[in-house]
Amino acid sequence: MKKATGFFCSECGYESAKWMGQCPACKAWNTMVEEPAGKIRSARGAASSGGALRSAPQPVSLDEIPMGGEERFSTGFSELDRVLGGGTVAGSMVLVGGDPGIGKSTILLQVCRNFAASGKRVLYVSGEESLKQIKMRASRVGSLSEKLKFLCETNLETIREVISREKPEIAVIDSIQTMYCEEIASAPGSVGQVRESTNILMQIAKGSGIAVFIIGHVTKEGQVAGPRVLEHMVDTVLYFEGERTVSYRVLRAVKNRFGSTNEIGVFEMTGEGLKEVPNPSEYMLEGRPVGASGAVVACSMEGTRPILLEVQALVTETAFGMPRRTAAGIDYNRVNLLMAVLEKRCRLPMSHYDAYVNVAGGMRMNEPAMDLAVVTALISSFRDIPVEEHTLLFGEVGLSGEVRSVSMAEYRVREAAKLGFTTCILPQSCLSRLKVPEGIRCIGVSTVNEVIQELFR
Ligand code: TYD
Ligand code: MG
Repeated sequence: MKKATGFFCSECGYESAKWMGQCPACKAWNTMVEEPAGKIRSARGAASSGGALRSAPQPVSLDEIPMGGEERFSTGFSELDRVLGGGTVAGSMVLVGGDPGIGKSTILLQVCRNFAASGKRVLYVSGEESLKQIKMRASRVGSLSEKLKFLCETNLETIREVISREKPEIAVIDSIQTMYCEEIASAPGSVGQVRESTNILMQIAKGSGIAVFIIGHVTKEGQVAGPRVLEHMVDTVLYFEGERTVSYRVLRAVKNRFGSTNEIGVFEMTGEGLKEVPNPSEYMLEGRPVGASGAVVACSMEGTRPILLEVQALVTETAFGMPRRTAAGIDYNRVNLLMAVLEKRCRLPMSHYDAYVNVAGGMRMNEPAMDLAVVTALISSFRDIPVEEHTLLFGEVGLSGEVRSVSMAEYRVREAAKLGFTTCILPQSCLSRLKVPEGIRCIGVSTVNEVIQELFR
């Protein structure tokens, strides 16, 4: 008998009876893969009804729903708790994605360790590493409580049995791409397997109130059915980012049903696992050059937290006809735009100069409030005049060379004052609404030319 198959988009999970070059749902090209159908359809149906069959349920009004405060528990990392919206919620599913080797297994092992130390029953299921390998990693992050149990398994039915027997309060699945469900014929990591595995895990999480953390790999080509399909199904999606060559890592929420998505957590990879960086500003400004032209400190907001960063620019005369520009940690087009503003509004002949702009420390920042610092760094390098080291700038620069107001000015100024900065240059319109903290002088500007007047006379 020929098995019924269907075609699935590996990006969004769209299902179709025939192959197509372009997915009609997400418009991605060449993402349809053939997989056994049938089972997947029924699995999807089961998920929407929570696995149990009910006869026509009655709709209710919000008043009838009891207001039970959701149960949250701390992960032991305040950086992670904040990203999650105040700790882990019982019965929630959290997906942790990120490049291979970034530290996903490490952070979840440490989280498990903290949970177990606070008396919770924890199960860590690994489909990637042997128990020996886990033990080697665990010996680096410190002693583990006996409440933390490990399991090397990839069959989800077995995992379900173990969970119902052991009754853990927290379970970690490392990683979803290695898990498989016998009823689905396709290979682990395929769209169907990932979706069905997540379904089973969701039923486990919602059914017994276990908080489940799932690790998912992100591949560039989308060869493996990526966490894209998963993102729709889970409650919270966290991305662990960073360069492998720099030691700090940023944890970012991209979806969160239990909290905001603009918080980040900063960690540092050390010899003993990941450590929190409670004050990233200090960390980012460490070892900054003193009295060098082209280096300026900016203040960017990440969620509710201000982070001070050093913006560096190097402007040199173009040797060939075509000026070279590069931007690291900041949008390339934004740098080009700001250079055009300098050329036209401040009469600086930028088109004859190469420019290299870099946010030191490897942090990626896309806030318009960084504009003023970028512009100032460019002018400072161009004129070869350093900016006084205790000076900080923030503000958006518009196309007419005007400095526009940005949000949360007071937070930024307070952070600057806390770290010992004595001068803050900010949009004039922000200054009028600001309560200036002690020990810092605030200078309001309304055009880039005023900044030049102030700093490079
Ligand atoms: P890992 O958590 O295995 O990454 P992932 O699960 O995301 O693939 O992290 C692997 C990297 O972290 C590896 O290159 C070694 C490094 N590492 C340390 O630097 N210190 C440590 O204490 C640990 C456990 C790992
Ligand atoms: Mg891993």
